[in-house]
Amino acid sequence: MCGIFGYVGARSDAPGMVLHGLKQLEYRGYDSWGIAVPKDGKIVVEKRTGKIGQAETTLPASHVGLGHTRWATHGGVTDQNAHPHLDCTGRLAIIHNGIVQNHRELRRDLRDRGHTFVSETDTEVVAHLLEEECARLGDSAEDLIQAVMTTFRQLKGLNAIAALDVRSGCLAAAKNGSPMTLGWATDGMLLASDYAALLEHTRQMTFLDENQAALLTPDGIAVYDVATGQTITPEITEVSWSAEQADLQGFPDFMSKEIHEQPHVLRRIARERLDDARALAGLIREANETHLVGCGTAAHAAMAGQYLLARVAGRRAFYANGSEFGYLEKFLGPGALAIALSQSGETIDVIDSVRGAKRRGATLAAVTNVEGSTLYRLADHVVLLGAGPERCVLATKSFTAKLAVLLLTAYALDGRIEQAADLLEQAATEIEAMLSDWRRDYIRQIADQIYLREHMYIIGRGPSYPMALETALKIKEVSYVHAEGFAGGELKHGVIALIEPGSPCIALAPNDETRDDLLSGAMEVRARGATVIGIGPREDDAFDFHVPHADLSEASSIVQAIPGQLLGYYLALLRGHDPDKPRNLAKSVTVK
Ligand code: F6R
Repeated sequence: MCGIFGYVGARSDAPGMVLHGLKQLEYRGYDSWGIAVPKDGKIVVEKRTGKIGQAETTLPASHVGLGHTRWATHGGVTDQNAHPHLDCTGRLAIIHNGIVQNHRELRRDLRDRGHTFVSETDTEVVAHLLEEECARLGDSAEDLIQAVMTTFRQLKGLNAIAALDVRSGCLAAAKNGSPMTLGWATDGMLLASDYAALLEHTRQMTFLDENQAALLTPDGIAVYDVATGQTITPEITEVSWSAEQADLQGFPDFMSKEIHEQPHVLRRIARERLDDARALAGLIREANETHLVGCGTAAHAAMAGQYLLARVAGRRAFYANGSEFGYLEKFLGPGALAIALSQSGETIDVIDSVRGAKRRGATLAAVTNVEGSTLYRLADHVVLLGAGPERCVLATKSFTAKLAVLLLTAYALDGRIEQAADLLEQAATEIEAMLSDWRRDYIRQIADQIYLREHMYIIGRGPSYPMALETALKIKEVSYVHAEGFAGGELKHGVIALIEPGSPCIALAPNDETRDDLLSGAMEVRARGATVIGIGPREDDAFDFHVPHADLSEASSIVQAIPGQLLGYYLALLRGHDPDKPRNLAKSVTVK
């Protein structure tokens, strides 16, 4: 949460570069944005509430700049609370991602020592603490980094901070918990919360580790251990993503672009992830218990994995939400396997809980999209999704990619991985067809008929149950229509009371053993006036609308995900919402 971008180097257009970088990072928070650059020995700042959109900067030319897009935690969404925050002298600008848990005590003490606060944020204490440390030391770049580390040691909580100092003309950063990537370009050094924003400048990255700090000068980056203050040799990794992958490439928004990328991603996984899936299957085979852990959409993938492992390979796996797994892990020990699913690899609820499992001796496997992410570095075994940058706040291609990896793994456990690869190819072909034939328009027409309804229900049984939850999440987070997913059998145990004439109800009805019972549920809601949208290979009397798809046995769930994504997308457009940046959300949830 919160996007961070900084540059120092030979170019004099730092304000424009930083603004552009923030536009790439806006999915991390869009309550406000701000940029700081030096001018005549003082910091000058431009900051505004709301989305960055097509904003342009009026800041003066500069060789160094630092910017931030905010997802508010402490203090309302106001210009005053937007980052960067300054010290009392105007020498330093600070931006921050995380929560300074001891900000109240620090603020009180700083006030007592004469500092003036102009915002309600926890961040501002960092600016004033750094002001004191810089005043004690000198004006050199080495003084700045030592002051940043002394300041950072005083902060409690999980934080990433970055500072711009007018005197040394350098940037400095430190992190614990929140991500920070450093980029080595030929014409300068960069920092960002996600390396996707750095790709058009460089693919040479250094991933700052926990409790490390960095000093960025025009010629290079020095990395430090915050605890000792000593330098560490920075590890430079060449990442595989390219800048083009992060562009809209002719699509009107990232949500539709990423929905359309799914066939390509599935084919790539079918071709390139067989060895990874076999290795993951080996870990499951050796483990005495397996836990699948994720948050939000990734939790739904974890739940789908539980069904896949049981149905395909006869293996029991437990699924848990990342935010709850920590409360369940006390019994974990050596021999247990935790498989963390996370697109970003930075979701703090997942990281925290699997770190706890690892401390107890469990093996940690990660299925993630982001090379070099915290989860990537923490895990004993990693499967990279290879889905390319996901810029829409909603997870779409990363969800079906996780399902694909889990499908391969379940079939690998049963010695039939080639069959799974073949199913993935077929799923890719089916999704390609659905995204280009009459079904896409048909889903838009359905959206047209229901977009004024405030409530929707989605039912599925067995492997379609997690898909019902995911369909509901996609619809509600982007269109703000209240959508609830249920296990089809649970309907008559209470939820059916909510059905009224015209209530849209989606029935996920694949050709498996769940179909007949699911259709009974669909009939029951229809009898009470619901409008039933059936998704499955075969037509039925229970359906008012029917979106058909090929029967792909265990890969049917992957195809089932698409109508929900499209319906959510069209509902959002019809209701006048930005599909890429739903209100109150941010991609990569790095605070609790
Ligand atoms: C929903 C969505 C979120 C994420 C969740 C976990 O569309 O994007 O629910 O799935 O925040 O994110 P990752 O996978 O990055 O751990």
